[in-house]
Amino acid sequence: MSFRLQPAPAARPNRCQLFGPGSNTKLFAKMAASAADVVNLDLEDSVAPSDKESARANVIEAIGSVDWGNKVLSVRINGLDTPYWYRDVVDLLEQAGDRLDQIMIPKVGCAADIYAVDALVSAVEAAQGRTRRIDFEVIIESAAGIAHVEEIAAASPRLVAMSLGAADFAASMGMQTTGIGGTQEDYYMLQDGARHWSDPWHWAQAAIVAACRTHGVLPVDGPFGDFSDDEGFRAQARRSAVLGMVGKWAIHPKQIALANEVFTPSEDKVAEAREILAAMEDAKASGAGATVYKGRLVDIASIKQAEVVVRQSEMIAANSP
Ligand code: COA
Ligand code: MG
Repeated sequence: MSFRLQPAPAARPNRCQLFGPGSNTKLFAKMAASAADVVNLDLEDSVAPSDKESARANVIEAIGSVDWGNKVLSVRINGLDTPYWYRDVVDLLEQAGDRLDQIMIPKVGCAADIYAVDALVSAVEAAQGRTRRIDFEVIIESAAGIAHVEEIAAASPRLVAMSLGAADFAASMGMQTTGIGGTQEDYYMLQDGARHWSDPWHWAQAAIVAACRTHGVLPVDGPFGDFSDDEGFRAQARRSAVLGMVGKWAIHPKQIALANEVFTPSEDKVAEAREILAAMEDAKASGAGATVYKGRLVDIASIKQAEVVVRQSEMIAANSP
């Protein structure tokens, strides 16, 4: 480990972030009653320009009137390239009350984007005498966002989570696809005439995870558009979990259970991690730094790997209702 220790991210379950348009008020109670850890009320791209003001008013009203239980409650504001975002921030902080936990900033391209929102939020918080600090989450969904991902991850002590937004990312990168996440038909290798599909999101995900882990931010996988494809969602989510992400968005309620399943370490994985820790305790007691577990090497690094699984499992259990 470097002299600079890796900061721990927020110790909260973030397995599923359920989205719903701020213009669709009949979804709010269903979102609140769902099994998602985080609820994201959207003012951005699922709301038509003509509905921006009414959606903002709906969301402000619902933050105070709906029982959101112990969920993290987040509102996705409009992008900094629109005329809506400052009013989103000001009205939310002046009118929405203390239940709001988090603001999601979409399409961030550089650390200064976060600085700008932070300055505005800080001023309104102070003017209102708000005692609970609003957290931020951001979406990396542009070429600039991924190019500056590390400075973005370091941009504000308010920053808690960072998601990959596959659709806008693909558009900004000029990727030849209209799919939102998952396997892409034309992204394959050929071996002896047989196609082997690869993962076009892999690099961006790994870059996000590295930036997040460096700065104590939760890395989250974004939307999977084809909500009729459960196995496709699972496969994408499993790859994200293996890369170090802690959760995934749901754009339809049927994706919530899938995300919770994949991002809750399974009993088998936790049992194996505990066995590895026990094997290493025995090894240490006999003065060894490495030993054999089920025919494979485990050593002091294996302790840290196993602890990631056990810690995540215990944290989720401790925060479950
Ligand atoms: N949150 C909570 N409940 C939801 C929901 C959501 N995001 N989306 C749908 N539901 C509910 C419906 O109201 C319906 O409830 P009912 O059985 O009580 O009638 C049930 O789930 C089944 O919905 P379904 O008919 O399959 O979907 P739909 O056609 O009504 O809506 C979408 C499909 C994609 C338009 C809708 O799911 C949606 O708006 N998703 C979020 C989009 C979004 O926020 N995008 C921005 C982030 S990418
Ligand atoms: Mg987007």
